[in-house]
Amino acid sequence: RIYRRAQFRLSAPTPADLGPDEGVEVAFAGRSNVGKSSVLNALTGQRKLARTSGTPGRTQAINCFDLDETRRLIDLPGYGYAKVPQAVKRRWERALPDYLRNRQSLYGVVVIMDVRHAPTDLDLQMLRWCADAGLVLHGVLTKADKLKRGAAHNRLQAVQRATAEDGVTLPSVQLFSALKGEGIDELTGVLDEWFAV
Ligand code: GTP
Ligand code: MG
Repeated sequence: RIYRRAQFRLSAPTPADLGPDEGVEVAFAGRSNVGKSSVLNALTGQRKLARTSGTPGRTQAINCFDLDETRRLIDLPGYGYAKVPQAVKRRWERALPDYLRNRQSLYGVVVIMDVRHAPTDLDLQMLRWCADAGLVLHGVLTKADKLKRGAAHNRLQAVQRATAEDGVTLPSVQLFSALKGEGIDELTGVLDEWFAV
């Protein structure tokens, strides 16, 4: 499994610092503190690959993890955290759609949301930017351990409905729990297709 071989390569302050726009990359996006870094760690089976934290806004830069010479995973800074300095927020609000639109090697985006909450306006905006940029999308509803099984499945349908109403289709959405290690195989299956493993 290539995901287990993920290695931290660099931390880029802006998309321009990511390095050559070659090969294939897949980005992980979501609200601040939603559990993006934890999804990456669970996926790669490396508990300390991406720094996680109870403090929102921990991942401020774009972190790049190489799977092999041509494939990589990108941990994007979380959006929507009020306490991030205005200047940083504004810079990112401009850089993100730009990265999504112009990065040739970016193939798809895994959008991570909290299973307990409806997609926020920023989530929907993120999905629209991705769709407009012609990127493939996959939704991950994480922290599924916080809900009972039935409730979690209801949330799955609610998210599909909410996004469809907003005019963005999420071709696939899944439940995930980094805590319980649930949903890793399903996510791996999606990424295998994207990376053509
Ligand atoms: P930023 O980089 O700050 O935007 O955060 P992030 O989205 O990378 O979140 P991170 O992975 O750092 O996790 C945030 C908090 O949620 C941490 O306290 C994690 O322990 C917790 N957490 C992450 N995933 C899960 C999960 O599946 N279940 C539970 N119960 N808690 C989780
Ligand atoms: Mg993070």
